Amino acid sequence: MLEVLNHPLITHKLTQMRNKNTCTKDFRENLDEIAELMAYEVCRDLPTQPVDIETPIGPCTGYELAKEVVIVPILRAGIGLLDGIRRLVPTAKVGFIGLYRDEETLEPHEYFAKFPKNLDQSIVMIVDPMLATGGSALAAIDMMKKRGAKQIKLVCLVGVPEGVTAVQKAHPDVDIYLAAMDDHLNEVGYIVPGLGDAGDRIFGTK
Ligand code: PRP
Ligand code: URA
Repeated sequence: MLEVLNHPLITHKLTQMRNKNTCTKDFRENLDEIAELMAYEVCRDLPTQPVDIETPIGPCTGYELAKEVVIVPILRAGIGLLDGIRRLVPTAKVGFIGLYRDEETLEPHEYFAKFPKNLDQSIVMIVDPMLATGGSALAAIDMMKKRGAKQIKLVCLVGVPEGVTAVQKAHPDVDIYLAAMDDHLNEVGYIVPGLGDAGDRIFGTK
């Protein structure tokens, strides 16, 4: 399943992020706000279970989340989506995957991994602003599946058909959510028109 969340508020904020004149603070704040808006849609099909409660007026059957949610940002840039999603799902646990793309080969390299327990029982949201070649997302999904994850959602801001197709081919069971589908990758693996290097723009490292 691929869902591109074409929403006027998300598009407005993403346009500010794409603008090369947007400063680090505004870039980060827009990303944080988009993450919260995306989380609302990404969580739409979370399973619930009935729970008997008492309102001040009388008995009532309510519904609560039936499964734990685990958010897994891909370091570094995925960190920029974490707080916005956690504001909507404050009970979520958090795991981390450290990956960087080799600038020449574009291959992902793992440098960190730390996860909560019971991944097999949880809804796992892998989050990263950019889905370019798809190499990092594929590596992250493989890591999560090796550790038992069965229900995985991949939440990215901007994707391209190359990355989406790579993930869909290798993992048809993973739901993909994007704020926007861009045109193509350039010769050095950057998304066009994209927004540049997400990690550098979030953390001010360039
Ligand atoms: C960026 C981005 C993704 C990856 C996407 O990270 O945040 O993780 O590239 O590219 P791919 O789909 O071709 O794998 P980068 O490796 O630049 O690391 P950073 O987040 O530390 O800047
Ligand atoms: N990673 C980024 O940060 N930006 C791109 O356009 C592609 C990969």
